[in-house]
Amino acid sequence: MINVAIVGAKGYAGEELIKILLKHSGVKITSLSGRMDGKPKHICEMYPYLKGNLDMFCEDIDEKKIVENADIIFTALPHMVSMEIVSKFISLGKKVIDLSADFRLKNPDIYEKWYGVKHVNPGLLEKAVYGLPELYRKKIKKAKLIANPGCYPTSIILGCYPAIKEKIAKKKEIIIDSKSGYSGGGREFAKNYKEPNCYAYQIGGIHRHIPEIEQELKCQITFIPHIIPQERGMLSTIYLQLKKDIFPRGLPAVALEDVVAVYKKYYENEPFVRIVETAMTKNVVNTNYCDIAINIDGKTNNLIITSAIDNLVKGAAGQAVQNMNIMFGIDEKEGLI
Ligand SMILES: NC(=O)c1ccc[n+]([C@@H]2O[C@H](COP(=O)([O-])OP(=O)(O)OC[C@H]3O[C@@H](n4cnc5c(N)ncnc54)[C@H](OP(=O)(O)O)[C@@H]3O)[C@@H](O)[C@H]2O)c1
Repeated sequence: MINVAIVGAKGYAGEELIKILLKHSGVKITSLSGRMDGKPKHICEMYPYLKGNLDMFCEDIDEKKIVENADIIFTALPHMVSMEIVSKFISLGKKVIDLSADFRLKNPDIYEKWYGVKHVNPGLLEKAVYGLPELYRKKIKKAKLIANPGCYPTSIILGCYPAIKEKIAKKKEIIIDSKSGYSGGGREFAKNYKEPNCYAYQIGGIHRHIPEIEQELKCQITFIPHIIPQERGMLSTIYLQLKKDIFPRGLPAVALEDVVAVYKKYYENEPFVRIVETAMTKNVVNTNYCDIAINIDGKTNNLIITSAIDNLVKGAAGQAVQNMNIMFGIDEKEGLI
């Protein structure tokens, strides 16, 4: 049995971790903690649907106590809070999967530029492994600290990677239009969201997921996030320019079947990436799948990828559990299918 602690159990991602880990046959949850202000609460008081399934209290965060009974610690806290706590857990010799953005960027100057504070542990940035199994499985196996990817970056990187890596598409002028359910903003945001409403936000190259995506894809992007009137689920529409020039009379330079074949080959052994005709949130919500659909606009010579995930599962807690499974050498799908 792997003994697991969840820090940040009151939040959306923490709750999702509990749900997934309860279905995992190789795990025992040994500690649940969060900002409790000295008033521990039974987890079933917080999440009544868990009654009969988990008899534990969510307590204040006490690093020493958490470490005593855990083989691995999931931290589901806001960025800037996480980097302090994670550093302590690592110094106490524990494996950590951090769901915040604090260890995703390799360059501390870029972290400071985007987050407005100096990183408290820049040395750990190099050691942290970016936890996207489809790209970094080998490194994840040996990692002590996983920087679990952001939700938008997961849908976008998985959607773009084969086209860029195989040089099907240009590395520049990539436009990405992503839509997220309102749980993507965390509990406070969700509480204040008034349905139905759909809007773009942080327009103009200012969203903090941009450096993470650019770091992994090694190219420049225009990224416009949107909020959509559903609680969970995310769809990214990605416009990439095909490398080959357009044929006369508007015929696409590249055959769609050829691009689909490249994507299928690329992800053939990936348990959680599916190449589909139409990517839609309905088919991935409450699952760890990333559904990718491929189209070509022959008139503009654009490759158009749509990529759907559940922001709280493949975009957060599910991917974190997938990473844990890889780190401990157990079936990657355990607890997730
Ligand atoms: N939501 C998503 O779709 C998603 C996807 C990928 C990654 N993430 C990342 O995962 C992390 C958690 O996200 P979330 O959506 O679960 O957020 P959330 O619902 O807002 O939960 C965050 C939790 O952190 C606690 N917290 C805030 N400041 C704290 C502090 N100083 N000390 C201790 N605890 C503190 C909050 O406590 P209170 O309850 O007392 O406020 C809350 O329970 C974030 O870094 C987020 O960026 C989220």
